[in-house]
Amino acid sequence: MIDLRSDTKTTPSPEMRAAIAAAEVGDEQRREDPTVNELEERAAELLGQEEAVFVPTATMANEIALRVLGEPGDEVVAEENSHIFVAELGGPAVHAGLMTRPLRCPAGRFTPEQIRETFRRTDGTHVPQTKIVSVENTHNASGGRVWQPDELEAVVRTGRELELRLHLDGARVLNAAVALGVPAAEIGRHFDIVTLCLSKGLGCPLGALVAGSPQLMVKARRLKHLFGGAMRQAGIVAAAGVYALEHNVDRLAEDHARARRLAEGLYDAGVPVQLEQVETNFVQVDVAPLGLRPEEALERLAQQGVGLSMTVHPTRLRAVTHLDIDDEDIDRAIELIPRALGALARA
Ligand SMILES: Cc1ncc(COP(=O)(O)O)c(C=O)c1O
Repeated sequence: MIDLRSDTKTTPSPEMRAAIAAAEVGDEQRREDPTVNELEERAAELLGQEEAVFVPTATMANEIALRVLGEPGDEVVAEENSHIFVAELGGPAVHAGLMTRPLRCPAGRFTPEQIRETFRRTDGTHVPQTKIVSVENTHNASGGRVWQPDELEAVVRTGRELELRLHLDGARVLNAAVALGVPAAEIGRHFDIVTLCLSKGLGCPLGALVAGSPQLMVKARRLKHLFGGAMRQAGIVAAAGVYALEHNVDRLAEDHARARRLAEGLYDAGVPVQLEQVETNFVQVDVAPLGLRPEEALERLAQQGVGLSMTVHPTRLRAVTHLDIDDEDIDRAIELIPRALGALARA
């Protein structure tokens, strides 16, 4: 099967497995695991922050970040389909007691004006305090879209003016950095806390990081323990992270180029794809114009040996390129997907 369901579908390469096998380990709860310590140092630098904390998943990373930044009853502002709002089971409310203020906007990118309109000034007794702005880059639900540096900086400036705390859900921030051709630190340094996922485009079996100032990371380490995420010989998995940061970052450009080629091939074959929306490793396909329901479309694709997946949009599926997808897979997908969906080539 050509598995384009998600960039989480990768399995560790032989080289990554060798790095895992050779890992030096220790008790990471006591910060005695040299490989975890190395990963945390490298990740902090990469993300333009002073310190980073290794955690098992990007969901845990986000939830820790929000709890560090807010108090129960505070509000977190984010795009309405952001991962923290639609895919973490209400975690911001459950773990941090936060109220959620969703913003509607194209491509997952909101504006300074939207923040100003949403911002509530508390009266101390009745009105909840707007405390956190959360940015997702790249933005999953909109199809891996990238915040342009000037848009991001304008939102950050407004956030600072309003004394808001800034969270970056940077699960795929390295995709954003590679797509823009800038160091990830150029994006990450603007935020109070940045999270990064290792088990998406970077190809690790698990792992994520929360990064910020040493003061905030003291709190993050306490919460990691509270959430049951403090581990023991975690260098076994951190070694995959160290390997990935060395070998799998620049190559994200290959995933982006393959997604672009896939999108163009599908478009030429009459599959409804909006080419201008393909900015990183996601291609969204609208099956409604083909007269198909998404479940039906997925079934037909599976019969042809291609895996796509649902999105939050009721008629759109997505194909995601990753480390385990090569040029040949893309050639075959360009043949098989239009056939499965009954698309007619454009004249
Ligand atoms: C933007 C974003 N943030 C966070 C996560 C959470 O990652 P995980 O499910 O590995 O915890 C995801 C997963 O898809 C995501 O897309």
